[in-house]
Amino acid sequence: MSSPHAAQILVASNRGPVSYTLREDGELDSRRGGGGLVSGLSAVGGDADSLWVCAALGEGDREAVRRGAGEDGVRMLDIDAEVHHAAYNDIANSVLWFVHHMLYQTPLEPVFDAAFRQQWAAYRTYNRAFADALAAEAAKGAVVLVQDYHLALVPGMLRELRPDLRIGHFSHTPWAPVDYFRLLPDDIGEELLRGILGADRAGFLTRRWADAFIGCCTEVLGGTGRTRIGVHGLGADAGFLRARSHEPDVERRMQELRGRIGGSGDRKTIVRVDRTELSKNIVRGLHAFRELLDTRPEWRGRLVHLALAYPSRQDLAVYRDYMDEVRRVADAINSRYGTDDWTPVVLYLKDDFARSLAAYRLADVALVNPIRDGMNLVAKEVPVVSDHGCALVLSREAGAHEELGPDAVTVNPYDVSGTAAALHEALTMPGPERAERTGRLAAAATALPPQRWFLDQLEALTASP
Ligand code: F6P
Repeated sequence: MSSPHAAQILVASNRGPVSYTLREDGELDSRRGGGGLVSGLSAVGGDADSLWVCAALGEGDREAVRRGAGEDGVRMLDIDAEVHHAAYNDIANSVLWFVHHMLYQTPLEPVFDAAFRQQWAAYRTYNRAFADALAAEAAKGAVVLVQDYHLALVPGMLRELRPDLRIGHFSHTPWAPVDYFRLLPDDIGEELLRGILGADRAGFLTRRWADAFIGCCTEVLGGTGRTRIGVHGLGADAGFLRARSHEPDVERRMQELRGRIGGSGDRKTIVRVDRTELSKNIVRGLHAFRELLDTRPEWRGRLVHLALAYPSRQDLAVYRDYMDEVRRVADAINSRYGTDDWTPVVLYLKDDFARSLAAYRLADVALVNPIRDGMNLVAKEVPVVSDHGCALVLSREAGAHEELGPDAVTVNPYDVSGTAAALHEALTMPGPERAERTGRLAAAATALPPQRWFLDQLEALTASP
């Protein structure tokens, strides 16, 4: 049943808009996150009766829940830590993420055994906790927007508890093609699809991912039932980015980066900014940079690869190993080619948004070469922020390629030699062409700003079927 202060618009996601850390003196520090959903939800205004339901992720968050210290408009669920670990790390990030991004080394993995079944039971429990909380908080006929692969079972569970609600589910990842999706045990695949089909509307970032979902539903279940399918290609927030990227801390980072690039202002830069995420293909990007230096000696001493690779999902060994590999390959390139006054790869491994914006502003070429990516907002942000125009080398497997492909230099992310050639092409693109393409890329990248993206989903969900 709904609570007396029931909400009209609810968002549910694993990671919420705020996180807490416990200081040594026992006080709690809170930090607001950014991202499309945060600015999207701001579109409905502070007065709207909205509620964001999310999980407590660390000790600080759990303590905030215990102290009742949460912010207005946010409800954090203090789900048992072991249940959360199994649901988030073992299922969401080690199975569902791997399926949708096609990351398995299939001769040895995945293995769906008894341990997996236990983890799956935890994933159900965790989804159930969200469904219960949403059912308790939602006003009659309210709209609930459930986010991502962590919460794929929530729509079905919630539908049973509260048939009066308008439920949307949105996938921020790609969706696996049916042959790959079928790696999952049959009953689990069915449960996942039925979970999402509990929603009135299932949203995706591109037509390609929506079609893959429809393909899975058709093959596995015989159709999508009454659920409508929508495509909403989240764009960059131009106003915010342009203002934020001219603040003093960004100017200071530009000075610092110029110092690290060295030379007398004549060196070119290839920039990449990513979470150190298996799907981002950072290692092959470094191999491509090395091949460029191997095969085109004219670039030696004249080019720097700025790689900003921020830690992500460090609870998982495979992510920690991947980060080590990024470091190892970068070091190997620097040992082979570096000189007293030239470091070919400048690697930053600490998250720093001001530095990312500074790198965007300086970039001659942006390298965005994921194996597979729901959208990739870096590809959309660089052209908006770039000072002098930036050529974009873009994987055809990134969702953003659907909109940016015509003005990018397209690569197959597995083709290292092809990527090296694309980097050369991008570096030698004539200035006027580069500027024109950047203008068109920026226009395409900002076509659907986060607030519009969010409102479109709300409107589609409240419109009669
Ligand atoms: O695309 C899926 C997603 O949940 C994004 O929304 C987010 O940027 C990313 O993964 C971060 O994941 P995590 O919450 O595991 O750090």
